[in-house]
Amino acid sequence: MANTSKGKVCVTGASGFVASWLVKRLLESGYHVLGTVRDPGNQKKVAHLWNLAGAKERLELVRADLLEEGSFDDAVMACEGIFHTASPIITNADSKKEEMLDSAINGTLNVLRSCKKNPFLKRVVLTSSSSTVRLRDEAEFPPNVLLDETSWSSVEFCESIQIWYAVAKILAEKSAWEFAKENNIDLVAVLPTFVIGPNLSPVLGPTASDVLGLFKGETEKFTIFGRMGYVHIDDVASCHILVYETAGAKGRYICNSAVLGSDELVALLAKRFPSFPIPKRSVTGHHAGSIYIIIFTQHSRGADVWLQHV
Ligand SMILES: NC(=O)c1ccc[n+]([C@@H]2O[C@H](COP(=O)([O-])OP(=O)(O)OC[C@H]3O[C@@H](n4cnc5c(N)ncnc54)[C@H](OP(=O)(O)O)[C@@H]3O)[C@@H](O)[C@H]2O)c1
Repeated sequence: MANTSKGKVCVTGASGFVASWLVKRLLESGYHVLGTVRDPGNQKKVAHLWNLAGAKERLELVRADLLEEGSFDDAVMACEGIFHTASPIITNADSKKEEMLDSAINGTLNVLRSCKKNPFLKRVVLTSSSSTVRLRDEAEFPPNVLLDETSWSSVEFCESIQIWYAVAKILAEKSAWEFAKENNIDLVAVLPTFVIGPNLSPVLGPTASDVLGLFKGETEKFTIFGRMGYVHIDDVASCHILVYETAGAKGRYICNSAVLGSDELVALLAKRFPSFPIPKRSVTGHHAGSIYIIIFTQHSRGADVWLQHV
């Protein structure tokens, strides 16, 4: 049974893939959730949130946009905890590059500026990404180097191979740490690897669309991703709540379950789902530069989601 004495927390980008699961688990554990979305009237995007257990009693949805200064003020002022998950996940199309960088970096600072105004704020949990850790040129680091939460991807390397999503996430997280330090904000970052699991919304986000593509035999994207970490969406949601509730949590937490090469991934899926046109092996193609494949040996610091990577 849910503990309904928990406080009020804000989830930015509440209708997204990751955020919807987070809202679900927060409601189930008794929180009052104030979700921000760009259009609360868009039933196609928000109806699934209203169907969650506890939503009618303890969910509010309000409008906020990362690109509008002060847009999050009211939502943040009403809460003691903030889960900042909103961030554009866009293909690496150059045309969207500026918008993606702006929403991720200035959008995160926009949310944190609102946090600075709230004297009752306990903690901010930022959804970052393992792409802030694992992308670098092999010339920079010796092979088999172990990466952990102290490691950072190289912005120059990501720019050189035009992985703008990673550039946006690295710069957004770094700006967040700097702002939090200057303004004495208790910030903790969760860095999920590739998130898999059921979509609560009927609208498929970019990650679910990539996975759906696999079931149609489109392996190229995963070949480009290369060897990568995968984590279940429910573990990602639990990890966010765990780092919020654990007083001693601090810094960055990589959130991952399994590490697979693209060949291993398609072989596993083809075996388990023989009626779908999944090739037995992925198409050999261009790998994103000389990205290192690093296995983290460490387990989570007190988290039941075990951490390893990529
Ligand atoms: N999915 C993964 O595998 C994965 C892995 C590691 C980290 N992450 C991180 O997890 C977070 C959520 O990702 P997701 O997979 O859940 O993606 P998603 O389903 O696309 O959700 C992203 C959310 O951000 C919102 N958003 C985008 N631009 C915005 C803006 N200008 N103002 C306000 N909201 C905006 C979107 O709102 P609309 O619905 O209005 O578009 C959407 O709700 C992101 O920070 C992402 O970097 C995801």
